[in-house]
Amino acid sequence: MDLQLKNKTAFISGSTSGIGFATAKMLLQEGVNVIINGRSNGSITKAVTELEESVPGAAVSGIAADFSDRQQVEKLLLQLPHIDILINNVGIYKAQTFFDTPDEDWYRQFEVNVMSGVRLSRHCLPRMLDQNWGRILFISSECATLIPEDLFAYSTTKTTLLSLSRGLAQLAKGTNVTVNAVLPGSTLSDGAEQFVADLAAKEGKTKAEIEADFFSNGRPFSLLQRFAKVEEIASTITYLVSPLSIATNGTSIKLDGGSMGGIL
Ligand SMILES: NC(=O)c1ccc[n+]([C@@H]2O[C@H](COP(=O)([O-])OP(=O)(O)OC[C@H]3O[C@@H](n4cnc5c(N)ncnc54)[C@H](OP(=O)(O)O)[C@@H]3O)[C@@H](O)[C@H]2O)c1
Repeated sequence: MDLQLKNKTAFISGSTSGIGFATAKMLLQEGVNVIINGRSNGSITKAVTELEESVPGAAVSGIAADFSDRQQVEKLLLQLPHIDILINNVGIYKAQTFFDTPDEDWYRQFEVNVMSGVRLSRHCLPRMLDQNWGRILFISSECATLIPEDLFAYSTTKTTLLSLSRGLAQLAKGTNVTVNAVLPGSTLSDGAEQFVADLAAKEGKTKAEIEADFFSNGRPFSLLQRFAKVEEIASTITYLVSPLSIATNGTSIKLDGGSMGGIL
């Protein structure tokens, strides 16, 4: 299937590894010019080199900026060319209960997870509307509706993204610009893999045992009953940012392997 993505330009926040990196690779395979992002020039150079090696002819570059630092974000916005496809992917979390989460941690997660998308969308959407074409996609999470008790602040930011996404779609009503959110379930990014490995070492179990425990106790509604691979999330993202997805707009799409339960 031709996804009709050739020669579009995409920016993906937080994409030197994990879901963002896997998405960058798939978009490059579709002929998209991709700008990746991470906090340091070192991580960007490493990721760009890896992408160039795995996708011959890849048009990939990167801009370093830490989304917890407003000044760095402002500098990044000045460097961005016209963006056809904006993927608001960057997201951080800290495992804490509600009573153990100080204001600073609420603000930090809100700054990175929500304000990154606010600022990037405010910058990119007007040009998309002028050109009457664009895609904005927010990477939310199953946590937006599950609200695990140790991820209270993170979950709140992920729920906020759903209203932000819907509101922006409404601003683009009647155009070929669409705005959507996806809600991935637990996915084996580098960070998640390390978390499982650390827990396995701590509890004297294998990684497979930790994964089985997590899904039977923590995600009982999951039908997948395993972590998704980053490519299994990136494939839907790639379709959703393509021209073919025009009928999907202003909505939130579960990529959760069934973990949120329910029919809708
Ligand atoms: N993995 C999951 O289970 C899961 C489930 C549902 C939703 N999600 C969501 O999916 C998105 C991607 O998650 P992931 O697990 O693939 O990510 P991840 O592996 O935790 O993300 C790492 C990426 O984020 C970048 N990054 C971290 N903090 C940053 C900051 N302050 N500014 C700029 N870049 C920053 C890192 O860049 P450098 O290291 O180069 O700085 C790296 O490229 C997130 O929004 C996450 O909440 C993940």
